Parts: sequence; structure tokens; C-alpha cells
Amino acid sequence: MSAKTLVCVVGARPNFMKMAPIMRQLQSVNHLIKPYLVHTGQHYDRAMKDTFFQQLGIPEPDRDLGVGSGSHAVQTANIMLQFEPVLDEVKPFAVLVVGDVNSTIACGLVAVKKQIPLIHVEAGLRSYDREMPEEINRILTDQISDLLLTTERAAADNLSKEGIDAKRICFAGNVMIDSLLNNCAQASSLHTTLQAYDCKQSVTEKNYALLTLHRPSNVDEPETLARLIGVISEVSKKLPVIFPVHPRTQQKISQAGLLTELPEDRVIMLPPVAYLEMLGLMRSAKLVLTDSGGLQEETTALGVPCITLRENTERPITVTEGTNTIVGTDTNKIMQCVDDVLISGGKSGRIPEYWDGRAAKRIVEEIVRRYIRTD
Ligand code: UD1
Repeated sequence: MSAKTLVCVVGARPNFMKMAPIMRQLQSVNHLIKPYLVHTGQHYDRAMKDTFFQQLGIPEPDRDLGVGSGSHAVQTANIMLQFEPVLDEVKPFAVLVVGDVNSTIACGLVAVKKQIPLIHVEAGLRSYDREMPEEINRILTDQISDLLLTTERAAADNLSKEGIDAKRICFAGNVMIDSLLNNCAQASSLHTTLQAYDCKQSVTEKNYALLTLHRPSNVDEPETLARLIGVISEVSKKLPVIFPVHPRTQQKISQAGLLTELPEDRVIMLPPVAYLEMLGLMRSAKLVLTDSGGLQEETTALGVPCITLRENTERPITVTEGTNTIVGTDTNKIMQCVDDVLISGGKSGRIPEYWDGRAAKRIVEEIVRRYIRTD
């Protein structure tokens, strides 16, 4: 029997660390499955893509669709148009997508319309906030998926409420934590990262806050952005803040003329940093302030207190078992939470079930069981 082709899709930065361990694990069954990696090109900057591929050891994509940025409709439509001929040519037995970005739903939709089974890694997460573009992507991708691989047990309850048959669901664990555990030893030290970016400010281990901010609800709305920039300035009076800035956030801060609100000696603004730098910055931080989904999970795995600048989370286990606190964007609540961490050390948490570095192994075994070995 010759190996069957599995098309694997990545598009945006948070997809790369989820796909890396899956690609590696697929090598162990290369007599059965031949992966064909498609990068949609949703993220294309060197800092947002290339360094991640290099550091995570992801092979060069077999196909780069090069779609780039655009409105949601333009981006999603372009991905669909470019992806369809790939499936016609490659004829895979299934398409595997990860996470909740526009590339996830766009490629998923093309696959199912061609009767190709869709496999969704990180299924069943719900914020129950339909203003988030990712929530729409999650709900729709799960509805059309043939195999839904979940990262926490609550995901299966969310899926069952939406009428998804339990037979399609498999609790496999968290592949992003596979990547974290695989790479922790190679993470860059705080000193190395600060030197690489030529930072003159003095910052020491466990004595700074790490900040990321990019969600449209926080940065596209000028009033909210101005308030958050004000809070960051306040936080920086208590401890220095390291802030790797996403391109969309950079754009919005400049447009709103808010750059001068951040004291240069206390808020260290960096370009988007690579994966190993980010791991190091998270690990050495006193606390993390973020609106990212991934960082909520990574800080739980690292045991670092996380303050989430959103009203909700699709990853509730990071709150119930991990180090995460959801505070929203209210100035007083954020400052109170920061003070709390500085005084008490914050939540210590524990590592959730199946966040053990073996999720990709379970995923690949399940795929082989369902689609390859039919005996
Ligand atoms: C996307 C994902 C989000 C994820 C985030 C991580 C969706 C709906 N959202 O949001 O879930 O958390 O990635 O980064 O898919 N840009 C560049 N260079 C790039 C990529 C983007 O400059 O390589 C700029 C462009 O101005 C672009 C903007 O960033 O318009 C937003 O990029 P886009 O891919 O649309 O969404 P993200 O905010 O990155």
C-alpha cells in the first residue's frame, strides 16, 4: 500500500506552533501518510512567519498560496480560490486544519464541498462571544469537521450542545504545549533577547510585565486602545513592561497618536518576536498581560500569572486550573489584578490533563485508526 496524502494547512502565526509537532509526528508513519503542507500566506512578514518555520523546524510548505492581508471577506475568499486547485491536484484523503483563523474556515469549507473529510485540531473551544471573528470560525469549522480533536474536556460539552455526534470527537490534548515542551530548553534568555534588539533599559528576570495586544476589539476601537495604553503606562510605574507589538497594533497606536503616551524608559516596545524569544520572555516574566488565546495557555503551562485583557475566554481551563485571570479592559480592575500579583505572587495553577507533550502522537494515532487502517 502506498502512503496516502494528507493536506495540512497553516496560515497565521498561532497555527505554526500547533502544526510543528504534528508534522514531526507524521514522519513516524511516513509509510502510511504523506503530509502535503499548504501555507495560505495570511501572515507573510518575516517576523510573523519565516523565523517561526525555522525555529520550529517546520519543513518548507509544499505550496504557498500567498494571499496576504485584506478584509475578512477578501482574505477568506482569496484563500478559497487559491486552495481549491490544490485539492484537485493533490487529491488528499483528508484535510487537517488547526485553530480558528480565517485560513482554518476557508480551507475547511473548500474541503467539505469536495467531499474530502476535514480534521480540526483544537476543536470545541467557545468564548460565546460572536463579535470575535475567531468564534465564528470555530463554530463553523466544527460543524463541518469529520474528526474533532479537542484540547480540554469542556470542549466536548460545547460541541454536544451544537449537536455534534460524540463519535466524531476525540480528546487528544494540546499540541501547542507539545511545542512548548519541545522547545523550552532552547528558549532565548531575557538578556539575549534584549541584546538582540539593542535595548538599553535595565530589566531583570521576574521583574517585568510582558504585554501583547492585537485583538480587533481592543486595538481597532480608539477609545479602548487609548484606555489600555493609559493602563500600560500606569503598570510601567510599578514594573517595566516588555511589549512585542503586532503589526496591526503598531499601525493603530501610530494612527491614534498614542506612541508618546508610553514612557520609553519603562515600556520596551519590540517588533513581533520569534517563538524562542517569546518563550523566554514569558518564562522570565513576573506576569503577562495579553488578549491572545495562545498566551493564556502557554502561561498556564509555564506557571506564570496571566492577566487577560478580554471579557471572556474560549480556554476556560486556563482559569479553572491554570494561572489565568480574566479582567477585561477596565482600568481599575486591571490595576487591582496587577497589584494582587505583585503582592501575593498570583495564581500558581496546575497543568491540565493531556497537556503533556504527547498530543500530536495521540492525534496521528487517531488519524491512522480512522482513515488508514480500516481492518
Ligand atoms: C490573526 C487571527 C487571530 C490570531 C492572530 C495572531 C483571524 C481572523 N485572526 O489576526 O486569531 O490571534 O492572527 O497574530 O484569522 N499584518 C502584517 N504582516 C503580516 C500579517 C498581518 O503586517 O504578516 C498586518 C496587516 O496590516 C493586516 C493586519 O496585520 O491587515 C491583520 O492581519 P490578519 O491576518 O488579518 O489578522 P490578525 O490580526 O493577525
